[in-house]
Amino acid sequence: MERVFSGIKPSGELHLGNYLGAIRNFVDLQNTAECIFSVVDLHALTVPQEPDDLHRRTLDIARLYVACGIDPAKATIFVQSHVSAHAELGWLLGCFTYFGELRRMTQFKEKSEGQVNVSSGLFTYPVLMAADILLYNADKVPVGEDQKQHLELTRDIAQRINNRFGEIFKVPEPYIPPKSAGGRIMSLDDPLRKMGKSEDPKGTIALLDPPDVIAKKIRSAVTDSGREVYYDEENKPAISNLMVIYSLCSGESLESIADRYGSTGYGVFKKDLADVVISALEPIQKRYQELTEPGRIEAVLEEGRRKAAAIADETLRTFQEKLGIVVPKA
Ligand code: AMP
Ligand code: TRP
Repeated sequence: MERVFSGIKPSGELHLGNYLGAIRNFVDLQNTAECIFSVVDLHALTVPQEPDDLHRRTLDIARLYVACGIDPAKATIFVQSHVSAHAELGWLLGCFTYFGELRRMTQFKEKSEGQVNVSSGLFTYPVLMAADILLYNADKVPVGEDQKQHLELTRDIAQRINNRFGEIFKVPEPYIPPKSAGGRIMSLDDPLRKMGKSEDPKGTIALLDPPDVIAKKIRSAVTDSGREVYYDEENKPAISNLMVIYSLCSGESLESIADRYGSTGYGVFKKDLADVVISALEPIQKRYQELTEPGRIEAVLEEGRRKAAAIADETLRTFQEKLGIVVPKA
């Protein structure tokens, strides 16, 4: 059976981009592959976090994983920092990653631009991500398009180490939907910027936004000039983005949406889009509200920690031995 690994940072509220670009695929893959999904808290710490928020969001993301349909009986769900092998392998991989490679990462360039104090954790972020993936010898990594460059670096690091020490790490394949299928959901406020966690509440639909808030955000979403509804990423970026959201939330194809709303104008289309998004999120919000049994999520995470650690510790030990590290007896 193939193995799948992915993770989400508890650095803000989960949004429709996270769901359509990544979590939706996690849910599909759990039926055909051995899936491991992490709440990557150590990655969130690469930028300043309020301790209370980090704590709450870490548990919240685990709860939302389950609410979105990830079944803890099928998939492993755990918190990254609970398995210390992530930080340990991160260090070792950093010794095989070049400064120049990290300096080229566009996410680092974007997030550090204009900041006075940039942590070295933000710089080495992709090395920790490589450790996450390589510890589990994952075959596939479902993520949004913004993670493509990090996955390429992960593959380069794995290949470099395998060339030097023999086949130690599985070289993972990205699993990234094209933009027209959710790989890059754009902000409702600015269709040239991706929908993101914190900076842009008006342009971002959070998975737990109440229906009236969702309707209002969609009503005020930026549109393109003209009034026809059709898919054209270049010339109609705003409408194309709304069409992708409509299509993924309803299951209807882009062609069929264009046929139906082609000439009705944006108003009717947006009104129906709000209904479609609200209906798609309703079962997730309902399950989330039901997951209140004390200790339930903590128990899922403890079981996940045990399963994840068993795999990760073994990979780490094998690599340590190859490197010549004197590994203590267990
Ligand atoms: P993050 O919120 O950065 O931890 O991202 C978690 C997952 O959601 C990653 O796989 C991202 O690639 C994906 N993701 C984040 N934002 C978007 C977006 N606007 N469109 C599609 N996927 C996204
Ligand atoms: N860097 C990813 C993001 O920002 C999160 C992440 C960390 C991740 N480790 C991972 C994704 C391992 C996939 C696999 O979205």
